[in-house]
Amino acid sequence: MFKGKKITAGISGGIAAYKAAELVSWMKQNGAEVSVAMTKNATEFITPLTLKALSGRPVAVDIMDTSSDWHVPHVDLAACDLLLLAPATANLLAKAAHGLADDLLSATILASRAPVLCAPAMHTDMYNNPSTQENLRILQERGWSFIDPGWGRLACGAMGQGRLADVAEIKEAIRAALSEGPLKGKRVLVTAGPTYEYIDPVRFVGNRSSGKMGFAMAEAAHAAGAEVVLVAGPTTLADPPGIRVEHVVSAQEMYDAVWREYANSDIVIMAAAVSDYRPDHMEACKMKKGGEQSLQLVRTQDILASLGEKKGEHFLVGFAAETNDLLAYAQDKLERKHLDMIVANDVSQAGAGFDGDTNIVTALYPRDGQLLRRDYPLQTKKAAARQIIELISALLPPSEENKI
Ligand code: CTP
Repeated sequence: MFKGKKITAGISGGIAAYKAAELVSWMKQNGAEVSVAMTKNATEFITPLTLKALSGRPVAVDIMDTSSDWHVPHVDLAACDLLLLAPATANLLAKAAHGLADDLLSATILASRAPVLCAPAMHTDMYNNPSTQENLRILQERGWSFIDPGWGRLACGAMGQGRLADVAEIKEAIRAALSEGPLKGKRVLVTAGPTYEYIDPVRFVGNRSSGKMGFAMAEAAHAAGAEVVLVAGPTTLADPPGIRVEHVVSAQEMYDAVWREYANSDIVIMAAAVSDYRPDHMEACKMKKGGEQSLQLVRTQDILASLGEKKGEHFLVGFAAETNDLLAYAQDKLERKHLDMIVANDVSQAGAGFDGDTNIVTALYPRDGQLLRRDYPLQTKKAAARQIIELISALLPPSEENKI
């Protein structure tokens, strides 16, 4: 998977340093050339010998090291396809944010132009400290990717956020960072789930969407190498690793979030079941029962149609859930909203639709003046999503550098 890739694994001094052994071993087993750069403190938690055995290469700790194969250690280590910092302590983040280079690992970071994938790990209070949060923000703005620390028991016995993210999650992020998938370099905006339109503080108008199809689309786009933002309505699904998730509740919030991200996206996949109506007003207090009630509903804004009005170079994908005349309705939506593709599913069929893990879909898309269709049989939503992403990738116009 990583053949021909050079990865520098930076390990700083925290109890989670021992988990770096598994990551180094896994990257090596998958074909990467892995070089390890450790801080002195990290060697208190795991020995360079362990990492040398796992990586099959010398391990650098001392910036003045002239005994190993390194010519200029921090410069040699900086020249890589990916700089992985796991675990990254608060101190390492602070040094990186402010350009300090007083040891081998911080000098390597400063000398590197490689993409950085960083998994912080520290005590909750250190993580939440405004200094650390500010450093994280600075580094994020410079383009670093983070795998946020998880919640759980910390080395001191307390519970809180700060422990190194799951190794599986870090592996997934490494895979995505090194992916040469068909959507490498593309920014994909996906919406998922229902929207809730509140009647009063405790009641809403909503729908049965689980968000599973949208989440599967976001994950498939991420696996294809794209940078993905997921705007999710209320669902019970966990945020997928490596994907920035914006949580929203109402159609108006989804509209605002989508428009905030629109200029920075190449492909938009509107898989959300956006409510078409909302109560004309929300009661400030919980309504008390009495006699007959009626609800006055007004239309929400059609997010996808509004994007279609300002389509520009965007590739727009809509979803259509129907119970009858599937293709005719889907085609109408495709044309009316100026879409490049619509994914239609007949929610009345067994195995298709809202709650389950499977779906049966048909993609409709215009090509050379004709409307083409591709049918996908009953399969998991994740598998269907992968195939739709493949189709979208194949339909994208060639990028500038690939044009003859
Ligand atoms: N959509 C949207 N904003 C809305 C409503 C829907 O962006 N306010 C998007 C959905 O995310 C989906 C597509 O539009 O991609 C669905 O089209 P739509 O015509 O709204 O479908 P239905 O609500 O099923 O429409 P109808 O009631 O006409 O069948």
